[in-house]
Amino acid sequence: MRVDRFLSNLPQFSRQHVRLLLIEKRIQVDGQVISDPHHEVRAFSRIELDGKILQAGKPARYFMLHKPPGCVSATQDPEHPTVLDLLDEPDMDELHIAGRLDFNTSGLMLITNDGHWSRHVTQPQTKMPKVYYVETEQEITAAYVSKFKEGVYFAYEDLTTLPAELELLGPCSARLSIVEGRYHQVKRMFGFFNNKVIRLHRESIGSLMLDTQLAPGEYRALLDLEINLFQATAGHKATCL
Ligand code: URA
Repeated sequence: MRVDRFLSNLPQFSRQHVRLLLIEKRIQVDGQVISDPHHEVRAFSRIELDGKILQAGKPARYFMLHKPPGCVSATQDPEHPTVLDLLDEPDMDELHIAGRLDFNTSGLMLITNDGHWSRHVTQPQTKMPKVYYVETEQEITAAYVSKFKEGVYFAYEDLTTLPAELELLGPCSARLSIVEGRYHQVKRMFGFFNNKVIRLHRESIGSLMLDTQLAPGEYRALLDLEINLFQATAGHKATCL
């Protein structure tokens, strides 16, 4: 919400008072003096008046997890373990998954308490490249490379997939980079050629590569460096975190 609205919602300040506080440069957000009433603040922002804390700001949390096959990308599931069951963290109810993988897909998953960040990662407009290692039942030919570049028509959504890059690795293996996250997208793209995907593993999202030290089922917090680099490559403003 806007900083002026945040301040006016506090019982001690009238709107007139808020205007003055901003003009007099007495408000700091995350250590920076703010005078623009439109400046956006969030639950994660530290907000101070003359150095006195009005809101301490919740710590934002970001994790990468090596999802094993055989678990569900959901918060709860009546039958199967979920990816969140693999984390041992406080306040688990605040955490959610940024972008899903199918039950048998393995690889990089991002988990956070920052809804703004996860929306940014997953919304199609961001066009964040997601790279998958793929193994198929039948041979992958050069025709796939041009078809995926051109786009595959998905009748159900009545859309054509955005240009995707396919690198052939072996007769039945390839690396595919897509910038969307449509339902079962990779399987359906190979489905265009009636070729069944038998192994699917997400290696990276944007600049974030799955840490090779993480065994399936393991996770770790993202490093500040990774978060900053990720924001920079995603064109995400630092003020958003
Ligand atoms: N595409 C798929 O088909 N499945 C996934 O899990 C991810 C991308």
